[in-house]
Amino acid sequence: MSSQFDIQPIGRFVGQSAAIKRPKEIACFSYDDKHQFRLDDSSIKYYWPPTLGADLSRGFDTFEKLDDTADDHLDSLLKTIIAYEQVLSQPIEADLITWRGMMTKFMAAIFTDRDGFEMNATLFQDTIFLEENHSYKLNSQAKQRQQVSQPGRPSQDMMSFWGYKFETLCMMPAIWAETSRDYLENRENEIVNNHAQYCSVVKTGIGNTVMILGGEVDAVWDSKPTDGSPINWVELKTSADIRNDRDMITFERKLMKFWIQSFLLGVPKIIVGFRTPDGILKRVEEMDTASIPGTVKRRGKGTWDGNMCINFASALLDFLKATIIGDGVWRIRRKEWSSTIEVFKVEETGHGDILSDEFINWRIKL
Ligand code: A3P
Ligand code: MG
Ligand code: MG
Repeated sequence: MSSQFDIQPIGRFVGQSAAIKRPKEIACFSYDDKHQFRLDDSSIKYYWPPTLGADLSRGFDTFEKLDDTADDHLDSLLKTIIAYEQVLSQPIEADLITWRGMMTKFMAAIFTDRDGFEMNATLFQDTIFLEENHSYKLNSQAKQRQQVSQPGRPSQDMMSFWGYKFETLCMMPAIWAETSRDYLENRENEIVNNHAQYCSVVKTGIGNTVMILGGEVDAVWDSKPTDGSPINWVELKTSADIRNDRDMITFERKLMKFWIQSFLLGVPKIIVGFRTPDGILKRVEEMDTASIPGTVKRRGKGTWDGNMCINFASALLDFLKATIIGDGVWRIRRKEWSSTIEVFKVEETGHGDILSDEFINWRIKL
């Protein structure tokens, strides 16, 4: 049996946004530069503006690129939650636990007709756990790679490298006062390595749904406060320079994803590095995340509306909570260009591979 959630007509999501809770970091974890999990903030990075004019292609041949073909499910997030609950001696109360990327797909769904997704979900002790369907992800990545790049244009791999190169040009491994001038002046020569990550785990809410989300944050503006006050996170992005109206529309659509991604973890600032078509860094723009939907509404081409993203997500989450009840594993699928989200059972019992044995055993004895 399958249940459906209609995306169209999207007009029903117009209006003031559903209640939202400001995301609060409750825990964090890191991957080190070998991508080994660490239950600490060791991979946090600090922002310092890059030197303009840099060639983002430089170092492509020595890129130490993470192999992300294995399916890690929710493992690191669950490990971090176990550690958090050990201190609390009680389970976290939440309606949904997932990676930030899954919520990004939900929130963007009304304005991204061409994008499909597939996820697996299971209910365990009153919480829905949601992961990406890994084989679907591998398939779409393969499809993307097959898209032959236009002759004379940089490859998909090169364009993806530019993003990591930009990060390397913007980051310091320590606060400014503890970073040598020599390091800053030679960031262009650093080997680009995307194995290390700092991941923030936040508690947040949309409408009637309380969520725990885990996601990578790129850097902090100053340093992480120790008193629990909001963290000045920075999201780093690259984009092609805007030369005409068509570029503007493309950029505005990208801005929606930037905004959603940052909104969900409470990242207040997005730094966009604009580049030439062949990857020379031309200028850097700082944007306040909270002001992006308003700016797009006032000055933009009206390609999307932030309140509608929130209201849509709120309604979809209500639907998922009403549908994913009882035992088993469910698939949540939106086919490309489809105007419905389908939810159907793929396993009658158990939790598939969504939950680790470690997590289930921990919870059972808690
Ligand atoms: P850009 O976003 O500047 O292009 P994030 O911005 O989410 O921190 O990701 C960092 C970089 O990883 C991106 O930089 C991009 O280079 C690369 N990246 C992220 N998602 C990708 C994808 N789906 N395909 C290819 N590259 C991706
Ligand atoms: Mg990142
Ligand atoms: Mg980034």
